[in-house]
Amino acid sequence: MAAATPMSPWGSGTPDIVVGPLDLAARVDEALVVQAHAFGLSQDEIDVRRHIVLRHLDDPGARSFGAVAADGRLVGFVYGLPNSRTHWWSTVVEPYLRVTGSEDWLDDSFVITELHVHPEFQQRGIGRSLITTITDTVDLPRSILSAIDTDSPARGLYRALGYQDLARQVLFPSAPKPYAVMGAPLPLRRRG
Ligand SMILES: CC(C)(COP(=O)(O)OP(=O)(O)OC[C@H]1O[C@@H](n2cnc3c(N)ncnc32)[C@H](O)[C@@H]1OP(=O)(O)O)[C@@H](O)C(=O)NCCC(=O)NCCS
Repeated sequence: MAAATPMSPWGSGTPDIVVGPLDLAARVDEALVVQAHAFGLSQDEIDVRRHIVLRHLDDPGARSFGAVAADGRLVGFVYGLPNSRTHWWSTVVEPYLRVTGSEDWLDDSFVITELHVHPEFQQRGIGRSLITTITDTVDLPRSILSAIDTDSPARGLYRALGYQDLARQVLFPSAPKPYAVMGAPLPLRRRG
């Protein structure tokens, strides 16, 4: 497991924020507060997500990293796990990837399940640090994820890291907006 490291004191980094391994099961409620602020979740959605996150963490390949402020407050987190074609997410996206000829991305791939930074701490390099830190610990050749199919900061970040669209307008049951599925070779592309 990677050691906790203070973020770069130069560039857009935030020196008082430490990115390191996170016991997400123990801090799931704090993480969901961050997600609720960053992504917008109702209390009902938080309750559902809580069960889903804890179930994902039972996977032996699951890992999570957090960004923690000097006062101990969790201000961002990321978690993911190696993809399995039996996972619900994978069964939803598989037909879309088959159509675009990118179905093989479901194998030997690390899924970024959630990445969120509290709005007060965004645009300081924390999201980039979280996702590059977690994927650097992964012994797989590639990473996949889904993001709402719109021109968002998340899509901008993923493209900057080398993620490309594998399928678009992907509909998840009960999600009101369509998603894009994106994939990138590992290690992720660095700035410059
Ligand atoms: C996506 C998210 C995690 C990015 O976190 P962040 O800490 O603000 O991102 P960073 O400061 O590390 O930015 C890294 C890159 O992302 C892109 N980016 C970040 N904010 C952006 C914005 N407002 N507009 C366009 N691009 C943006 C840029 O490419 C940026 O690189 P640069 O600093 O070299 O320009 C954060 O915006 C967030 O939590 N959003 C809401 C929740 C969400 O959408 N999560 C993803 C679900 S799929």
